[in-house]
Order: sequence, then C-alpha cells, then structure tokens
Amino acid sequence: MVQLNDNYLKLKAGYLFPEIARRVKVFCDAHPEAAKRVIRCGIGDVTEPLPSAVVSAMHKAVDDMASRESFRGYGPEQGHEFLRHAIAQNDYRDHGMEVADDEIFISDGSKCDCGNILDILGHKNVLGITDPVYPVYVDTNVMAGHTGEANEAGAYEGIHYLACDASNGFVPEVPKEKLDVVYLCFPNNPTGATATRAQLAAWVAYARAHGTLILFDAAYEAYISDPEVPHSIYEIPGARECAIEFRSFSKNGGFTGTRCAFTVVPKTLLAATATGECKPLHPLWNRRMSTKFNGVSYIVQRGAEALYTPEGKQQVRGLIEHYMGNAAILRAAVQQAGLPVFGGVNAPYIWVGTPDGLTSWEMFDRMLTQANVVITPGSGFGSKGEGYFRISAFNSRANAEEVARRIAAL
Ligand code: MLT
Repeated sequence: MVQLNDNYLKLKAGYLFPEIARRVKVFCDAHPEAAKRVIRCGIGDVTEPLPSAVVSAMHKAVDDMASRESFRGYGPEQGHEFLRHAIAQNDYRDHGMEVADDEIFISDGSKCDCGNILDILGHKNVLGITDPVYPVYVDTNVMAGHTGEANEAGAYEGIHYLACDASNGFVPEVPKEKLDVVYLCFPNNPTGATATRAQLAAWVAYARAHGTLILFDAAYEAYISDPEVPHSIYEIPGARECAIEFRSFSKNGGFTGTRCAFTVVPKTLLAATATGECKPLHPLWNRRMSTKFNGVSYIVQRGAEALYTPEGKQQVRGLIEHYMGNAAILRAAVQQAGLPVFGGVNAPYIWVGTPDGLTSWEMFDRMLTQANVVITPGSGFGSKGEGYFRISAFNSRANAEEVARRIAAL
C-alpha cells in the first residue's frame, strides 16, 4: 500500500485558525441570535477594500489580457521585472539598502514562502524558533520531518525554542548554543513586539559568527511608525550574508484575498553542502521557483505595482492609519479593563494577559460566549503564549469601537 508522510501525524490538533473557525461555527449554530452579534478579531484578515490605485491598475491589466498585442501568457516564475524593480527600488534602495531586482522573488504569499523555503535547506539543521510564534514556522518543519514528536506541552523534539515573554519584551535573546536556522518575525505576530536596531544587530553578529541562516518575516513592517525601529533585516550591515527576508502585500495593500508577496534572497548568502563546500542559496531558490511555481497572475502583479505609485503609497498610508486607529481604541479598552497589554503600537496585534488566571482557551470561550467577540488564544502560538490572548486590529472602525464597549462591559 502507498505510504503517507508520517510527519503529518505528529502535528498537534488542526492549524490554529481553522480550529478557531470551527469552534466559532459550533457556537453560532447553537446560538443563532448571538451569532448575529459576533465580531471577529481572531485571524489577522483585512476588512477594507483594495486601494483604488490597485483596482484601476488591475482593471487596466484585464484590458491588457483582452487584446492580442498586450496579452500575457506564462510570466517569469520569479515575477515580472516591473514589480521586482518597483520593490527593490522603493522598499530597499530608496532606504539605502543594497538589494538587486533579481534578488526579489514574487510569490502568492509569505505563508507559502515560509514553508517552501525548506525545499532548499538540508534536513539536519538545528532550528531556533521563538515561543510564542506564528505556527507556520513550526508546522512546516514538522511536515518536512525536521522534528521529533511533540511532548504534552506541544513542544517538538528537535526544535530549540527561544522563549519570549514580558521579561525580554517578547524579543528573543541570542542563545549560547549554535543554531543553523532561526526564524525571526518583527513587528511580531502574535505579540506585536518590535526589535531594536541593537537587538537585530546582535542576531546578525550571532548568525555571521555561527554560519546561521536568519529567516526574517517582515510581513508587518508597514505598521512601524517609530523612526528608530528597523523595517528590514538588511538595515543591519552584514545581513546580506546571513538572512532571507519575507514580505507581503497582504497587510499593507489589503491583498489577503488577492495574494501577492515576495522573498528576498541575496546572492551573497551562502550555505554548506553535505561535504562542507560553500554554495549560494540564490540559484537554488531560483531553481525551486522555476520548477514548482508558474508565477503570480499578471493582473495581480500589476495591482501590486500600483502600491508603489504616489497615489498607491498614500492610500496604503490611509489603510495603515485606519487599522492603527483601531489598535489604539482596542489597546485603550484592555488597558482600562486593567489587563496587562503589549503590542498594538507599531503592529496591528494587541497581546493581552488573561484576567483571573484564565487559560487562553478559557478566555477565548469567555469572550465568545459573553461578549460575542472572537479573539485568538495565546496558547495557540506556543506554550509561552498560555495566559495571553491576541486581538487583531483588522476590522471596521465601528466594529473596533463596539468591541471596546463590550470589553468595558465584561
Ligand atoms: C494571523 O492572524 O496570524 C495571520 O493572519 C496569519 C497569516 O497571515 O497567515
């Protein structure tokens, strides 16, 4: 009989967000009246429509597809040159970072890229993953067979967990031991924490000293308002020799349903072969993309390009201001309720300590049944998330204000 991938059987429960959706559905089916009041602040999914600059560019791109002269078939698997150039210029070179157009690889999402990157890495790397963490980093490594079984607390054998809590401001310290691959995400999902330049510089120095690869997830960089907080790992000298960066148009341009993101793989980034030879990773990622991917649709890439026009940039700023306005309202509400609150300042997530010694899932139930508000239980992001919950600021203003009222009334 055909054999399955046993690694999948090691995975704990379902993926966090479908599991939340399942529990919300059970509640709504059982309580149809309360279901009408339910406000979702769980998954970080945008609510506001696409910027008009994007919509116009996509309409025009549809017209391009309608005539023989401007029609496009297969695009380059790495992404169209017009978008790779706009990204490298606007997000990096304009800010003094050295990134070439062909170091940008366009994809349909950072979640996909964070998982797919494992295709070009070996199976024996020692992994460093923060706790709490965006679950994709852990689960994709489990699926790839890079871990042993999980223990009762949900920690997988073979992963070196980097504890993040209030004592270190939810930014992991550089460890004493040698790790081969480290996942860092700033601004952080789920805690909303940001890393200072000095903290990132310490990680880059560590990575260069140990031959470590940093996988830097910057999906929320657009939410940074503090001028001191770095937007990219490449702001740190030496990062081109040790880091891959993931970015997305989901949370800045509202592309969660439209799908477009990118990964930066510097040509200066080397890794070792099984026999200890040093080789660049860039050609491997290029080969992986050419073989397993046919590129993001031309129409969507034209839409993403429009985010870099003056009009597009202004509209993105409007979206960020909208969601961060929600974050301020929600943050103030939990603060006034006397709960310990983190994040929500340079990030669209508010990370809150549960009251009355409740577990994260107990708090999820309380919020759902008593306030009809969906939040994300902190323990879904790892054992160190126990005793916390996450509120997403992605919502309409009216919903954010209503959630604030319900928190006050709890
Ligand atoms: C989240 O809520 O953590 C995010 O929406 C997940 C994602 O971006 O995939």
